Amino acid sequence: MSMQQAMTRAAREAGIEIPLRYHDVTESTNTTALRLADEGAPEWTIVVAGHQTGGKGRLGRTWLSEPGAALLCSVVLWPDLEASRAGLLTLLAGVAMAEAARVACDAEVRCKWPNDLMVGERKAGGILAESAVAAGRLTHVVIGAGVNVAAAPADAPRAASLGGGDPAVLLQAYLSCLKQRYHPGDEAFAEELLEAYRRASSTIGRRVRAMTTDGRTIDGVATGVDASGNLLVESDGETEVVAHGEIAHLDG
Ligand code: BTN
Repeated sequence: MSMQQAMTRAAREAGIEIPLRYHDVTESTNTTALRLADEGAPEWTIVVAGHQTGGKGRLGRTWLSEPGAALLCSVVLWPDLEASRAGLLTLLAGVAMAEAARVACDAEVRCKWPNDLMVGERKAGGILAESAVAAGRLTHVVIGAGVNVAAAPADAPRAASLGGGDPAVLLQAYLSCLKQRYHPGDEAFAEELLEAYRRASSTIGRRVRAMTTDGRTIDGVATGVDASGNLLVESDGETEVVAHGEIAHLDG
């Protein structure tokens, strides 16, 4: 079975009826999915690639992957959610991928806030959400996920992989978890998600260095995530809110 057939079947078996779009090579699945969403593509349109020539990471970085050894996918969603709570969707994707990695690849993956997918202290994957907003609410969101399944890219020496597995099997498990947990209109959505995120987190309970929403660098202990997905850090007796950027774990 070709990779395209395997990915198409994986999405169908996860209960997704919209035909999956597969590219052996593309610039970025997020870029393609955003274009499709701008043109009105429905929720659960999925774009998957075997390789990306211009993969995008968070904070303007490039995302590299080993051809044929990674899962590179983007999902179009049209959530009914305030724009300020968009961070919840990236946490959702992180939780879903951590759960999927355990089921599909027998790998222990945890989320370094917000959603670096870690095997031990090394990064094996990440999530990039890009959204469109109108009148303070999200219209559509593209959630991109890149995971080093069988191998990390040769030119990223600090990256890890899940240590083996089939990217199509991981996709099926990921989409199933995502579908099961994605109910942005429900009262209980955020609370259930945050509970699952706390369990999957490799950050909560640890000493971190982070940038606050008002631009100060602080050291403290990560105590939780709030209802918008921001990280809460206890520093000098105050609870500080960290909404963006990158944090460092200070204790190993
Ligand atoms: C990060 O920097 O941690 C986020 C990486 C996200 C990479 C994925 S690969 C599939 C999708 N398409 C992209 O261009 N980026 C995301």
